Amino acid sequence: MRILCVCLGNICRSPMAEGALRKMAEDRGIELEVDSAGTGSYHLGSPPEIRALKVAAKRGYNNGMHRARQVETSDFFRFDLMLAMDSSNLAWLNRMCPEGAAAEMRLFTPDQADIPDPYYGGMEDYELALDMVEDAARHLIGELARAHAT
Ligand code: 4NP
Repeated sequence: MRILCVCLGNICRSPMAEGALRKMAEDRGIELEVDSAGTGSYHLGSPPEIRALKVAAKRGYNNGMHRARQVETSDFFRFDLMLAMDSSNLAWLNRMCPEGAAAEMRLFTPDQADIPDPYYGGMEDYELALDMVEDAARHLIGELARAHAT
């Protein structure tokens, strides 16, 4: 299973989602390839935002080696699942999706809620974004574990 987490800048929400999914999959013994990318190109090559790294590290997730990149055409063919952090990211993916691409594109949260962009907020906004990321990741990993077992 190959999963791409997608947000706008690829420095806050999707790197946190990538780190959480990778750690939860490892803990459960589920084989998962996870990456993240942005719809925008503002931060290409940058490491994750320091505030995202801090809140994630406190909860045992580490994605400090990631460097921001933009979603590219090959991603739509390489990944099984593209998980958008909010509905504007999902709309962008739907617009950019090339014909014949196999990836399933959907919102990350199980209740279809947007994970608010914390970039212009404070640490509490990063904590809230990571709360939502963790909930969504637990839900998805649970689904994958059940599929694994059958
Ligand atoms: P992200 O947050 O999409 O969760 O990585 C953002 C980071 C940067 C910007 C917007 C959102 N920006 O406009 O630079």
